[in-house]
Amino acid sequence: MLLEVRNLETWYGPIVAMQGVNLKVDEGQIVAVLGANGAGKTTLLNTLAGVIDPFKGQVLFRGEETQRLDPDAICRRGMVLVPEGRQVYPFLSVAENLGMGAYARRDRDNVARDLERVYGWFPRLRERERQHAGLLSGGEQQMLAIGRAFMSAPKLLMLDEPSLGLAPRLTREIFAIVSRIRDETGTAMLVVEQNAAVALEHGDIGYIMELGRVVAHDSCAALSEKADVREAYLGGGSLVGESGTAQRWKRRRTWR
Ligand SMILES: Nc1ncnc2c1ncn2[C@@H]1O[C@H](COP(=O)(O)OP(=O)(O)O)[C@@H](O)[C@H]1O
Ligand SMILES: [Mg+2]
Repeated sequence: MLLEVRNLETWYGPIVAMQGVNLKVDEGQIVAVLGANGAGKTTLLNTLAGVIDPFKGQVLFRGEETQRLDPDAICRRGMVLVPEGRQVYPFLSVAENLGMGAYARRDRDNVARDLERVYGWFPRLRERERQHAGLLSGGEQQMLAIGRAFMSAPKLLMLDEPSLGLAPRLTREIFAIVSRIRDETGTAMLVVEQNAAVALEHGDIGYIMELGRVVAHDSCAALSEKADVREAYLGGGSLVGESGTAQRWKRRRTWR
């Protein structure tokens, strides 16, 4: 088992945001985490990445506890987060952003090989190698954020809503590349995604969160067959609590 989360619980001041969370990721798996806004998905990834300290519970990564380590130490062990809202360095070039991902690595030959891989997966990044990252489109910035995370040699890549604000076509393109990265490198993926259809199509195992808890988990194939999951996540829109129309309008509004 690559990652095993046991009874994890996180609070913000007096508010409990996540509790009783158990979750596993095996080597080379793509695990999808689905749930409405406010369900605790970002809290889960941020807790795993060491950005927030859990109140209780255990995170075992490659058999070692990591829940008390700082984000840098967790990243160096191979658990790497692409945060919500793709935070690239806007005034650094694409190439410099990718270099930042590899700053802690000493294996120069492998760094060069990984850079070639990233440019192979995302040819548009190579074309814009010298441009400031801030000038890229939203989709390109997401590609850069994923590429930069890959440059830190992750064993588990955690992606927080990679498709946020992107057109459906770009969402599918990014998921296809995420699958390809897993197939070609064996990197496991823990992906939080609002587009449940795309996530269930590419994922192996899926977890569903509600109000800070995991309420269901199964193979993605089984989840996409379940009536309640279909109704809640695969109907007209992909976000719970919003009509299809509101959802479509919101998507359009945030397209770039
Ligand atoms: N910094 C914060 N301070 C207080 N409450 C927060 C903070 N971040 C998130 N929350 C609350 O924690 C819950 C889970 O939020 P979050 O993990 O961001 O959900 P999701 O990513 O699934 O939308 C929500 O009720 C949210 O309002
Ligand atoms: Mg979130």
